[in-house]
Amino acid sequence: MAKTPNPFKPTAGKVPPVLIGRQDVLDGFESGLADGAGAPGRLMLITGQRGFGKTVMLSEIRSIAEREGWFVVADNASVGMCDRLVRAIRPRGMRMREVSIAPSVGVAGLATATFGGMTLETPPVDARTLRDAVTERLEKMPRGKGVLIAIDETQGVSMGDVVALAETFQHVQADQDQTGLPDAQKKGIAFVFAGLPSLVDDILNNKVSTFLQRAERHTLAEVPLVETRDAYVDVVESSGKTIDDELALRAAKAAGGHPYMIQLIGYHMWRSADRRGSEAIENVDVDAGVRDALHAFYEAVCAPTYYGLRPPQRLFLEAMARDGEGVTHVADIGARVERTDSWVHKYRASLIRERVIEAAGYGLVRCCIPHLCEYIRDEVFWHERE
Ligand SMILES: Nc1ncnc2c1ncn2[C@@H]1O[C@H](COP(=O)(O)OP(=O)(O)OP(=O)(O)O)[C@@H](O)[C@H]1O
Ligand SMILES: [Mg+2]
Repeated sequence: MAKTPNPFKPTAGKVPPVLIGRQDVLDGFESGLADGAGAPGRLMLITGQRGFGKTVMLSEIRSIAEREGWFVVADNASVGMCDRLVRAIRPRGMRMREVSIAPSVGVAGLATATFGGMTLETPPVDARTLRDAVTERLEKMPRGKGVLIAIDETQGVSMGDVVALAETFQHVQADQDQTGLPDAQKKGIAFVFAGLPSLVDDILNNKVSTFLQRAERHTLAEVPLVETRDAYVDVVESSGKTIDDELALRAAKAAGGHPYMIQLIGYHMWRSADRRGSEAIENVDVDAGVRDALHAFYEAVCAPTYYGLRPPQRLFLEAMARDGEGVTHVADIGARVERTDSWVHKYRASLIRERVIEAAGYGLVRCCIPHLCEYIRDEVFWHERE
């Protein structure tokens, strides 16, 4: 008998079979388009931890805009972004202005500078090319429609590119206000930015980005347990296998609301049932699914996070990992790794800034990447003992 394809999608950026718990963000964007020029949903900032579904949200938002007849472009904020946007937006045959240069091109030092490391002395760049490209594109579009620019990995954006985007946004709005048309008939511009949570601090600490400060903010949090359980049942049943509610709930609990983990567990429990030639996902499959998913999560999320940190930050986490998954008294950390209070203070602050740990009440910290402490205990300590 031919196997039914595995419906779960533990792949970065892949729209899942059921998008769990994100309807409010999509509704916000949809009303932004419907409410016309100046609606808050037309300038949005979506933040979330790795694997929480930012790229997927951008992709859904792009689909909504396309369905509404908007012109959509997307980029991942890497070097040369505005240049690529201009090429994508400019209608064919448009003449380039002689003097205009695309931001982030040919400006020494700018291309590699990102929000975090940005100094305020960075020279503002000419934003006219992008502005012109959008204006020309809008001229070719019907009333009431517009251009959506969707930017992923915004934490890596250069300040020059942000300036160009901000100017484009303001220019188009001012231009459209001049038409005297009702807001619903004006042509529009919308931006949706997605990035890691540290982006919010970068933005708040940086005077140049008032544009991003004004964006409507959405934080992608863990998705709710019951919705996860129901999604497991829906997806499994509509794809040709069965799972009972209780087992689906057990799988959902193990996923802890983490969207990537939800897909991993779904994928591996389905595969385990397939291997047994079973149409029903049973206890053994949930066990195998959780175990295999955890292993994949270690590889895809925990290892890159841990090895991406500086050695003292790792040492701090190793001290925390001795407590299990719960909270750690900050006062215990220095003693465990024989470091001073100021060392503890410094690396506590740096790990909080990078959203690896969070304060958990007076004198307490907790890891905010699921399974990271478990990973350190299972993999790092274990290897050290070998
Ligand atoms: N709301 C959701 N419900 C169920 N699964 C989801 C949801 N959002 C994302 N996923 C799944 O989670 C995984 C990660 O999604 P995505 O790549 O969009 O995350 P991300 O936040 O962009 O991660 P990164 O920061 O690493 O780029 C994918 O397998 C995707 O199918
Ligand atoms: Mg992503």
